[in-house]
Amino acid sequence: MAKQRAKLVVGNWKMHGRLAENRVLLQAISRGAEDLPDDVRVGVCVPCPYLAQAQTLLEGGRVAWGVQDISAHEQGAYTGEVAAGMAVEFGASYAIVGHSERRAYHCEGADTVGVKAQRALAAGLTPIVCVGETLEQRDAGNTEQIVGEQLDAVLAKLSVEEVARIVVAYEPVWAIGTGRSATAQQAQDVHAFLRSRLAAKGGDAADVPLLYGGSVKPDNAEDLFSQPDIDGGLIGGASLKGKDFLAICTAAVAATAAR
Ligand code: PGA
Repeated sequence: MAKQRAKLVVGNWKMHGRLAENRVLLQAISRGAEDLPDDVRVGVCVPCPYLAQAQTLLEGGRVAWGVQDISAHEQGAYTGEVAAGMAVEFGASYAIVGHSERRAYHCEGADTVGVKAQRALAAGLTPIVCVGETLEQRDAGNTEQIVGEQLDAVLAKLSVEEVARIVVAYEPVWAIGTGRSATAQQAQDVHAFLRSRLAAKGGDAADVPLLYGGSVKPDNAEDLFSQPDIDGGLIGGASLKGKDFLAICTAAVAATAAR
């Protein structure tokens, strides 16, 4: 019987949002999340300028908030960067690090992602470490090698205690924003691999929440979240629609009950 871990569903708004529409969305999510059981946790990672708004509208409720990236530096002459400590001042709990869009468009290497995870932890944020292969890499049979290397680069920089405080998100690049999700079995296979890699680190590393991301929608979420090593999701497009995002959270509840 698979171990029961709490579910976690986190929205990744990417570069979307405006104050007026955010308000409607955040209020809807906050209200809807009140009905969720305690073992389903919810978060939203918003663009940095909206952190204060997220804090104002979500504080005291069931929905945590966070950022989509942080600087690899603590502070200093790094024009345009946002430090982990700055996000913490606005009550943030999460920082996505190593999203494939950052790796692809901002030349973030595995080493930088590891440093960002360290920075997040040092500031008191939970890093959501993203790993994932391209379609070319999958077709070449290199999925495990690629995600293994991406994960190892982060694990190498963290102590066992620190690893126990991270979240890992498996996001196959070919499934992000394409409408083509991995099948539940494809995702589970990679999650099981990542879980074993984490377990090798020792301590509580094996129980780190493992999220799946890539075209998660209300109609495929329960199937994905019912897999033994899938502890929830990192949701892009569908997190911008309150109804869909809450339906995905509800699927996490159903998946927990079905186990
Ligand atoms: P998607 O994005 O749900 O729109 O595919 C997921 C992500 O990039 O985190």
